[in-house]
Amino acid sequence: MCGIMGYLGERDTVEVLLEGLRRLEYRGYDSAGVAVLVDGKVEVVKAKGKISVLEEVLEGKKPEGSVGIAHTRWATHGPPSKKNAHPHADCKGHIAIVHNGIIENYLELREKLQAEGHKFRSETDTETLAHLFEKYYDGDLEKAVRRGLKEVKGSYAVVAISDRDPGVLIAARQYSPLIVGLGEKPGENFVASDPSAILSFTRKAYLIDNGEMVVLTRDRVEVKTLAGKAVKKSVFHIEWDAEMAEKGGHKHFMIKEIFEQPHALRETIGERIAGGEAALKLDRLNLTDAYLRRVKKVAIIACGTASYAGMAVQYALEKLCGVPVMVDVASELQHRECVFDKETLGIAISQSGETADTLQAMRMARRQGAKLLAITNVIGSSVARESNGVLYIHAGPEIGVASTKAYTSQIMAMLLFCVHLGLVRGTIKPTAARRLLRGMKRLPDQAEEFLEGEAAHVEELARKYKDVMRYLYLGRGAHYCTAMEGALKIKEIAYLDAEGYAAGEMKHGPLALVTEEVGVLSAVVEGPHYEKSIGNLQEIRARGGKVIAVANEGDEEIQKYADDVIRIPKTEEVLSPVLAGIPMQLYAYYVADLWDREIDQPRNLAKSVTVE
Ligand code: G6P
Repeated sequence: MCGIMGYLGERDTVEVLLEGLRRLEYRGYDSAGVAVLVDGKVEVVKAKGKISVLEEVLEGKKPEGSVGIAHTRWATHGPPSKKNAHPHADCKGHIAIVHNGIIENYLELREKLQAEGHKFRSETDTETLAHLFEKYYDGDLEKAVRRGLKEVKGSYAVVAISDRDPGVLIAARQYSPLIVGLGEKPGENFVASDPSAILSFTRKAYLIDNGEMVVLTRDRVEVKTLAGKAVKKSVFHIEWDAEMAEKGGHKHFMIKEIFEQPHALRETIGERIAGGEAALKLDRLNLTDAYLRRVKKVAIIACGTASYAGMAVQYALEKLCGVPVMVDVASELQHRECVFDKETLGIAISQSGETADTLQAMRMARRQGAKLLAITNVIGSSVARESNGVLYIHAGPEIGVASTKAYTSQIMAMLLFCVHLGLVRGTIKPTAARRLLRGMKRLPDQAEEFLEGEAAHVEELARKYKDVMRYLYLGRGAHYCTAMEGALKIKEIAYLDAEGYAAGEMKHGPLALVTEEVGVLSAVVEGPHYEKSIGNLQEIRARGGKVIAVANEGDEEIQKYADDVIRIPKTEEVLSPVLAGIPMQLYAYYVADLWDREIDQPRNLAKSVTVE
């Protein structure tokens, strides 16, 4: 988490930095700051709170210079405060740095540096780096950074400036994301945590890898290893355009992204379904048919919403491909023994492609011999680069912290893979594959039809149940994931108590929670679990709970068992999580909006969790 931006050039430096920070604000938003070189001196301005607070502080007293760094923070070490906000400086204020990641041995380093006379001003792990670079500075910032980082354990993307090295930015990466933006016009360059920060300035970039550092001036970008060996980089073209990262007339990014789902789903399919054939073109899959036939187990590696997308696909993969699938959150998976081996395919799902827990679990899987397939939205992200193959979801930038369009596109991408796997393994016949693919091609239109026809009804229901403070979300089979994701959405953005549960488990505990005050949302689509799901609704209503059912169009029966019904179009049961996820997102959104929550940036959360 935390967003980093650095700039060298002729533009209004603070404005460039603020523009970058605004785009990165989803990474963290509890404090922010800038450092600019002004007339041979480092000037630092910081503020507790969102970027808008920093903007107010800067009004009328913007430091002016042609080199600067900036940061938006999501606190790990030390609470959010002006003092703990970045940039951090060394004792004499010659060096200023911004950092994303965690310095694991910072206490040991800090004690050593304090014993040597360094004076610390904050409680952060980051400040250690500023003093460490000061310690090794003998007239060359690049050398000082390289020498200092040798002593550091942990993860970092760090950018440093010094008033004794004017015109130079030094950046380095170990496990935290970092990208260099190459100026479209001569005389400027950028560095940032991710492409969204530099979109409005340039589309040309270098993707910086672990163990690399960069020396930037206005006219030159040199990439080297941390040991100082030159690295040749190829220019990467960012495809997203700046407008895609704007709200486009919507009140929040989240609602814009919910409504973008038909488009995102079309992009996920792209050219991957080959005409009317029962065949798929998954160009970067890089997993041979022979290997896919040998796979004995699939392990889904993901966090948060992405792990629920994994649950949706667990159901489909087991049902259609006959392969056992395990899903566990990556923060747990990375500590579990015997989960992976050579016959395990790890599928890493991550919108950002930079989630630290996901990456750690992936590395563990690889060490144990597993092959990895990445499902991600960000081209060139760490998850993509550390996998054997990748399926990009092409959902476009997702800015709202609560994931929406990435969730449904992740399921779609995985369903495509599922059909491919079933065809290769002979568990899906070509006729069945054609039927499934036809069903998938209809999903974007069905999502559109639902959003056009039912969004206003969902909004009405949010108003009707506005005062409900406790929720249960239930689902079975293909919709266990819908229940989990629905509950997560309303927790994240409306701050309401919600439990997601497998409907069949109700009588083993959660039924005790049901009273007249509890709202229950349940996905009950037609299929093998329909009758049993109806049984669960009866148990709830018998105890006074209010039921909103997400059910298929044309299902008349459901009305007898629910207080309200949200209708989704009919599709194959294994495909239906794509459609059932959307009403859950909308309901959470409208409830949160009625509560006047900060929907795009919920308290205590960040979109890209790059620390474990
Ligand atoms: C954070 C976000 C969630 C997201 C999760 C995993 O918690 O707030 O929306 O699902 O990280 O992120 P990833 O980028 O790996 O999908």
